[in-house]
Amino acid sequence: MDFELDEDLRMLRDMARDFADKELAARARAHDKDEALDPAILAQMGELGLWGLTIPEEYGGAGLGNLHLALVLEEINRACASTGVTLSVHNSLVAAPLRKFGSEELKRAWLPKLASGAVLGAYCLSEANSGSDAAALRAQARKDGDQWVLNGTKLWVTNGGIAGMFIVYARTDPSAPKAKGITAFVVDRNTPGLTVGKHEKKTGIRGSTTTEILLDNCRVGAQSILGELNRGFPLAMDTLDGGRIGIAAQAVGIAQACLDASIKYSKERQQFNQPIGNFQAIQWKLADMSAGIEAARMLTHKAAWLRDRGLPCARAASQAKLFASRHANWCADECLQIHGGAGYTDDFHVERLFRDARITEIYEGVTDIQRLVIARSLLG
Ligand code: CAA
Repeated sequence: MDFELDEDLRMLRDMARDFADKELAARARAHDKDEALDPAILAQMGELGLWGLTIPEEYGGAGLGNLHLALVLEEINRACASTGVTLSVHNSLVAAPLRKFGSEELKRAWLPKLASGAVLGAYCLSEANSGSDAAALRAQARKDGDQWVLNGTKLWVTNGGIAGMFIVYARTDPSAPKAKGITAFVVDRNTPGLTVGKHEKKTGIRGSTTTEILLDNCRVGAQSILGELNRGFPLAMDTLDGGRIGIAAQAVGIAQACLDASIKYSKERQQFNQPIGNFQAIQWKLADMSAGIEAARMLTHKAAWLRDRGLPCARAASQAKLFASRHANWCADECLQIHGGAGYTDDFHVERLFRDARITEIYEGVTDIQRLVIARSLLG
């Protein structure tokens, strides 16, 4: 048992922290207002090797694991959650399944571009009638000679507006029970028939793009199948185990940002002739925030550690996301309360933290889905 980060992990975290503090934090407000990420920031992240963090070295990445990614994601999200989710989805929902399940041909075609950030990735699972019930998806892939023809509409696609490659889940055997007839396809953005639809106007993480993806007779070759035919659903679920660790790390980062802002304001803000941090009512909030953040961080690191060792991690990933996302929302609420009226204006970044925290309980499985995954694994 060792709670100390080794030197490699520490150096990586410090590099991400430095970038977050010196470069990213100053852009977070503009990302939120412009509803777009600064391309210069995306390029800098490429230079730092962040897009290829978990991609093997032979494909141009850094060959690091989920624990490394979680440490980086916490720091990036502390400064800008819009940038954080973009990085998380690219690494955990796209690069990771490609690395794990992709043919050599698919890996050679895509991993080097994903590693450099020349191409960003997106994951297309949800639809209008399949959110929590992901296996109810209706998008279809029909075989036509050597090709598959994709039709349907995907929703809530993070990175949809900027991605060059999409992992699309579609039904390949309509006669099979729900989860049994689904296949994952790797689809190039330039494939005729694939178009980016509506850009969602969101409450938070406004700098990250979330779009519809429309598939209208979109033809791909059989080599585009990721993993096995009709085994796309377990692949999607395994992928989400990793993604949920990323969102847990995001929640830890947002919660830490709330604590940092609350400590600063508690020392500066004077009421009744003293800093408000002198009052026990404030001190207790800070203490509870800090204890919960530490617990959330440990749960996240444990889930990442399990996944890096190839051990079952579905329950641990859901526990981390469940706890960290709820705590992030609680911290954001308390942080805003500590800031009073000022926190409710956009003079402070606290209102952005409040809006950004909310999504962590929604995407990559809402809170009750995390409870369902945990309960199923407890009850067997
Ligand atoms: N790893 C590997 N395989 C898994 C698995 C896992 N963690 N969980 C389930 N499976 C497998 C099962 O073993 C089963 O396989 P077989 O076909 O071999 O029997 C198959 O998947 C079906 O499993 P279930 O019967 O458990 O499936 P279900 O229909 O009951 O659904 C669920 C389970 C947990 C509710 C699932 O639907 C779920 O996670 N829903 C939430 C979906 C979600 O998180 N969506 C977010 C989309 S991404 C996003 O938010 C946007 C973005 O871009 C960030």
